[in-house]
Amino acid sequence: MNSIIRHPIPVIAIDGPSASGKGTVADLVAQRLGFHCLDSGALYRLTALAASMKGVALDDETGLARLALNLDVEFTAGCVSLMGQVVDEAIRSEVIGVGASRVAQYGEVRKALLARQRTFRQAPGLVADGRDMGSVVFPDACLKIYLTASVDVRAERRYKQLMEKGIHVILHNLLDELRERDLRDATRQLAPLIQQADAVLLDTSQMTIAEAVEFVLVHYEKVRVRE
Ligand code: CDP
Repeated sequence: MNSIIRHPIPVIAIDGPSASGKGTVADLVAQRLGFHCLDSGALYRLTALAASMKGVALDDETGLARLALNLDVEFTAGCVSLMGQVVDEAIRSEVIGVGASRVAQYGEVRKALLARQRTFRQAPGLVADGRDMGSVVFPDACLKIYLTASVDVRAERRYKQLMEKGIHVILHNLLDELRERDLRDATRQLAPLIQQADAVLLDTSQMTIAEAVEFVLVHYEKVRVRE
């Protein structure tokens, strides 16, 4: 029996680089456990989209933080609305992804989104995915996973995903953008993307989604038995 007093609502934190598949794995793990899900990247994407809708510059830290704090957003069964408009497609574009990684560099923006992210911790549990779920937002998560894959595999996965949506892109451009985003996310001063010492490494380069989901569930079961 562990003597550390745990928060009564368990959190599984899944952090990792762009296009690693962590969002898909997080959703499926949440479904299997009947837990809630937080796609924290969506909040940064929504902030970048709100900035473009309201004409706030991507280097205006205070203006962006004000937007982040007051995001008029609603999450309903698989649907995200911003200022009353359905924006699921709009926030998934590569342009908004790049914008999200730029706004995410600012401390004021990260601070503005912190409390909102923590409100997702509701019974019976939460699966949260992002870059700093295990390090900053839920440092007391009972299970921390660092989910990654090689940059080539991730570029191919993103390429297939975009092609299926009818969005045509050039693979090597995608690869360059991923490398650039990885570098920005890993080297920024605040909440950089790094594998935490207490996170379990899950490299999905050679794995199916179903295998990755099982991996997380098996580790969660081990944690539950220990506590
Ligand atoms: O889908 P993808 O993994 O490419 O991106 P995402 O998870 O939607 O996140 C978009 C951007 O938001 C990332 O490139 C990060 O810069 C930022 N982000 C962050 O800083 N912290 C988080 N917890 C989640 C996302």
